Amino acid sequence: MQLIDGKQTANSIKADIAAEVKKIVESGARRPCLAAVLVGHDGGSETYVANKVKACEVCGFESILIRYEDTVSEEELLSKVRELNTDSKVDGIIVQLPLTKHISEQKVIETIDYRKDVDGFHPINVGRMSIGLPAFISATPKGIMELLKYYQIKTSGKTCVILGRSNIVGKPMARLMVQKNYGDATVIVCHSHTPNIKELCRQADIIIAAIGVPEYVTADMVKSGAVIIDVGTTRVPDATKKKGFRLCGDVKFDEVSPLCSYISPVPGGVGPMTICSLMQNTLLAYQHKIYD
Ligand code: GUN
Repeated sequence: MQLIDGKQTANSIKADIAAEVKKIVESGARRPCLAAVLVGHDGGSETYVANKVKACEVCGFESILIRYEDTVSEEELLSKVRELNTDSKVDGIIVQLPLTKHISEQKVIETIDYRKDVDGFHPINVGRMSIGLPAFISATPKGIMELLKYYQIKTSGKTCVILGRSNIVGKPMARLMVQKNYGDATVIVCHSHTPNIKELCRQADIIIAAIGVPEYVTADMVKSGAVIIDVGTTRVPDATKKKGFRLCGDVKFDEVSPLCSYISPVPGGVGPMTICSLMQNTLLAYQHKIYD
C-alpha cells in the first residue's frame, strides 16, 4: 500500500507556481491577484479562506479578502462581485460557500465573470469542462486528477466508483473521469438512492469517496489492489485536540488501507490539493490561458 501524500504534492506544485511568478515579476509585470469574499463567521469557511490567502502568499500572488457579516444583502454582495469583475487588477474571484440562506448561491456564482471564475462553478465552465473544452475546473476534482497524475496511477479503462453527486465534487469528478482526454474511465456514480452501493464498490478499481459520512467505506466494500481517494472532511468532536475536533474522512482507514494499492489519507490527502488547484487556476486566469 502506498500513501498518497497530498501535502508534499501540493507543496511541490506551489513551488513551481512561485518560481513562475518570480519570473513574471522579474520581467516587470504585476503579480497575479485572487479576490476572496467571505460572508459570516463559519469556522470551516474561515479556515479555508485563511488557507487560500496563505497559499497566495506562498505562490507570490496578491490577494484581496473582502468580508461581510451574514446580514449582508444579496444585492450588496452581487454589486461587489460586479465591481471585482471589472477590476483589471483582479484575475480570479471566489465567494466562499455555503452562503447564508437569504442569498442565492446560484445567482452569486452566475454573476462572477466566467473568465475570472477560478472555482469553476459558473455554468459556462461546468458546461465547457463537461464536453472537454478548455475551462476552469473546480478545485477538488482538479486536485484529485493532479494527484492521480503525480502518482502515475492509470485510470484509462478502469472502473471508477464515485460516492456522492454534489455540484462541487461528485458531478464534476464523474465528468472528468469519464472524459477521453482526462480519466478515460468507466464511471459509476452512487448516491443516497443507490440500492447496491457495496456491490458496486467491490467492482471498483478506483473509489472516490465524497459523501461526507465518516468512515462510510469499510473493508468489505473494497477490492484488493484498489485505489482509494478520500474526500471526506467531517469535523468530529475530539477532546484530545487543541481545536476540540479532528477531521474524519469517508473511509475507515485502518481496515481499508491494507487492501489498497494507493490510498489518500485525511488529513493530508485531497485537502491540500484543492487549494493548490485554485492557485493553478488563478495563474491560468492571469495568463489568459483558458480565455483570451
Ligand atoms: N466551499 C466548499 N468548497 C468550496 C470551494 O471549492 N470553493 C468555494 N468558493 N467554496 C467552497
